[in-house]
Amino acid sequence: MPNELMDPNDPTTVAGRGFGIKTFAELFTPRQMLCLLTFAAAVREAMRELERERVESERVKAVGTYLGVLVNRIADKESTLARWDNSRENSQGTFGRQALPMVWDFVEPNPLGDASGGADGALDWIVSVAEAQAAYVLPGTVLLGSATALPWSDVSFDAVITDPPYYDNIQYAALSDFFYVWLKRTIGHLFPEHFATEGTPMKQEAVADSSLRQAALANTMENFG
Ligand SMILES: C[S@@+](CC[C@H](N)C(=O)[O-])C[C@H]1O[C@@H](n2cnc3c(N)ncnc32)[C@H](O)[C@@H]1O
Repeated sequence: MPNELMDPNDPTTVAGRGFGIKTFAELFTPRQMLCLLTFAAAVREAMRELERERVESERVKAVGTYLGVLVNRIADKESTLARWDNSRENSQGTFGRQALPMVWDFVEPNPLGDASGGADGALDWIVSVAEAQAAYVLPGTVLLGSATALPWSDVSFDAVITDPPYYDNIQYAALSDFFYVWLKRTIGHLFPEHFATEGTPMKQEAVADSSLRQAALANTMENFG
């Protein structure tokens, strides 16, 4: 189970709002947890099956990674923070917006059904993206690191274009841990270098973190008590 702790000092998620929620596992009902753990185990089994059939290892890794994303999409729909959208008559999922606020009544689509919110529909989205990307003639290169410490010498490029966070509006790392804890359990073994830690790296995140500021303020007040 994803028993990783959420930050109790982060007021931008339910964990920091005094509702008593301490771990990511607590964002799911026992039924949702059973569903997600079963899907996660099936992803690992699918990869073992491909290996038994001697499928090329890079292909196993690619298929496994897409299936890991599938579990994430299901987790988005199957949590107690998934909101029903009256105007569209469907589930907005956990991340209808980039936040993890308290939701007082949640919606739970059938993960095995073929309506919106089901695993089949989630897989269709992933396949569509993979097909569209396969058509690009200029593949991208993805590196993990901080934009504040690029691993290239000065004057290596004509331009560096970034899309940085918006001050303290969205705490990307804290929010992405919702998916990180599931990816760890589905495909963490494929990318041990990226899943070695409890949560996503936050120290170099270019955001103004109000919880850090509040902690610093509390510390200051204690010292001057
Ligand atoms: C406005 S979002 C970019 C969204 C992205 N362009 C997209 O379309 O999905 C800002 C991103 O910057 C990332 N970020 C924050 N601090 C960073 C840093 N020091 N180095 C690199 N990326 C960082 C956040 O994790 C977040 O994904």
